Amino acid sequence: MVLQDHRDVKDQRVYAPIESNSKLSKVGPTLEDRMKQYRESVEQPSQYWARVAKQNFFWKTLWESDDSVFSFNFDKSKGPIDIKWFDGATTNICYNAVDRHIEEGKKDKVAFYWEGNDVGETSAVTYGQLHDEVSKLAYLLKTKYGVVKGTRVSIYLPMITLGPIAMLAVARLGAVASVVFGGFSAHSLSARIIDSESTVLITAEGTMRGDKPIQLKKIVDEALTDAEAQGVACKAIVFERHGRDGVPMKEGRDVWYQDEIAALPAEAASTPVEWVEAEHPLFLLYTSGSTGKPKGLEHTTGGYMVYAHTTFTTTFDYHDDDVYFCTGDIGWITGHTYATWGPLLAGSTSVLFEGVPTHPTPSRWWDIVDKFKVTQFYTAPTAIRALMKGGEAPVKKTSRASLRVLGSVGEPINVEAWNWYYNVVGEGHCDIVDTWWQTETGGHMITPLPGNTPLKPGSASLPFFGVQPALLDPTTLKEVEGAGEGLLVIKHSWPGQSRTIFKDAERFAQTYFPVDGYYMTGDGARRDADGYYWLTGRVDDVLNVSGHRLGTSEVECAVNTHPDVVESAVVGIPHDVKGEGIYVYVCFKEGVEITQKLLDSVKAIVRNEIGAIATPDAVHPANGLPKTRSGKIMRRILRKIAAGQLDELGDISTLADPSVVEELIALKAVWV
Ligand code: PRX
Repeated sequence: MVLQDHRDVKDQRVYAPIESNSKLSKVGPTLEDRMKQYRESVEQPSQYWARVAKQNFFWKTLWESDDSVFSFNFDKSKGPIDIKWFDGATTNICYNAVDRHIEEGKKDKVAFYWEGNDVGETSAVTYGQLHDEVSKLAYLLKTKYGVVKGTRVSIYLPMITLGPIAMLAVARLGAVASVVFGGFSAHSLSARIIDSESTVLITAEGTMRGDKPIQLKKIVDEALTDAEAQGVACKAIVFERHGRDGVPMKEGRDVWYQDEIAALPAEAASTPVEWVEAEHPLFLLYTSGSTGKPKGLEHTTGGYMVYAHTTFTTTFDYHDDDVYFCTGDIGWITGHTYATWGPLLAGSTSVLFEGVPTHPTPSRWWDIVDKFKVTQFYTAPTAIRALMKGGEAPVKKTSRASLRVLGSVGEPINVEAWNWYYNVVGEGHCDIVDTWWQTETGGHMITPLPGNTPLKPGSASLPFFGVQPALLDPTTLKEVEGAGEGLLVIKHSWPGQSRTIFKDAERFAQTYFPVDGYYMTGDGARRDADGYYWLTGRVDDVLNVSGHRLGTSEVECAVNTHPDVVESAVVGIPHDVKGEGIYVYVCFKEGVEITQKLLDSVKAIVRNEIGAIATPDAVHPANGLPKTRSGKIMRRILRKIAAGQLDELGDISTLADPSVVEELIALKAVWV
């Protein structure tokens, strides 16, 4: 494994927590307050988490003893990888996220302010309304589609309130949701429907992204036909977002959501919850690894619920009257934990936005912040960098006085973007929480806490309660003590940890527990003398493009479906907005004439196979790839050529054919 470094450490300043936030902070104003709680959480994890879990949730039945709320084995040599939290207890997360708040008098509190793509399209859903809508959809799923505890239901939607409603309805029945990002292609969607063996898909006929209409139903039709051909018959419930004209519906397979809901009997509004075991699966979320096809990471009910709520309320220092806005799509883990479950479990009011930050103007996000008096705002560095390019004026036009906390997620935040976020967006009155975590971790793992933790731009700072990170030397695989750099691993389980890969426990064990006793994150990090962590990027072949995770092998598989391609190799290149761009080397079949059209067709095939987020930034024709004598592609060299760092190619004498390198450089000069 190679440690890369995407950091920009020009700014060594430390920012004291914002004073007004310190006065509010539930953890306390000093780092010692945080450390005291942290020590308790790692010295007595059972008691700590038992206390948290009893305080904030309803359990139908409790776990056996507070002395053992968890058990885990991270060591393959001692038996199968096994992770359990609150085992023996029963609960229902939908009950905790909706019904409980109504019983506590929050029926009329707004759960979601929804803001559509176009200005003027807006609505609000209270907890009472949410309960009715969730109940009705659960009733429909149960009575018409036979959805029961454990059934997988796929969800492929734009950012409309039906997204969280569908996730809640599925969980109400103890069924298992598999949300697929609405920007994924038909191929990606069908692969996820097939792997999860979903029997129902909840979707919409279309959406708008800025000026661009997206016809989701067309993609759905292709995906469902493909799934059926491969033995998975999946029905579709289609939400009418813009209109029915010209939308083909397949008899016996597709129905309109609105028609079905309108036809339900009155009792549908009070569908009871299904109590499930704490370790019962809650959702699958497919994510990319360094090899093979995307894996369906499985999260379970009790631990995820406790962790989503605790991290949400703590990292954003959520208070009852706050209005929170997360820009993450529900198709990613950020949208699961911090646009849906965390905010709803906390009984919060949050904003759900369908559109893009630049439509109709680059002030849109800040207009929304002012409109709803948003207190906490959570987004990705790539978006901040894109908005930075538009200058300060669109931001300065708005007030943003309500903001208190600004969150960052998905990739390392470079110092320029951090400073812009802090000074221009936050005008120096907001703490920035740079949250490091992953689909696999379920929730925040390393993060500052508002009003409490001194901020160092570019550092995610300190571990969250209960989280025990360590750094392993990449050569010896021994723990690095004190300040130093290495592979970031976690030594102890935490409640939000993913339990397995759906239908592939072996791959889960091999991927995440290659070193006995540690959960391997796949990221590199540096720890400074204050114990602050500085994430340095992936150490494997996973790309992070605009905060979206893509496997190099996944992109290569897509390129290789091109009829003129013999083989390909994909590497990441630094990109000033996306963080990382996709650079593809392609060997075409003999006799194929290289033209711009041909190179564009390679881009198009990747877009069609995976989705627009995977569109390559550059296609580099190659006569051959630099390989070792044993046939291994030397990506290190490909990365350097792509980035134009030709004086840093290093030793190329071990290549089977070193002349390949010169050829690649020459072809780059002509084509890229
Ligand atoms: O490399 C890390 C990066 O995103 C990866 C996880 O991607 P995903 O599972 O899609 O989840 C993204 C949203 C949590 C990590 O392995 N990453 C995420 N947050 C940060 C980060 N890198 C640096 N700093 C962060 N704050």
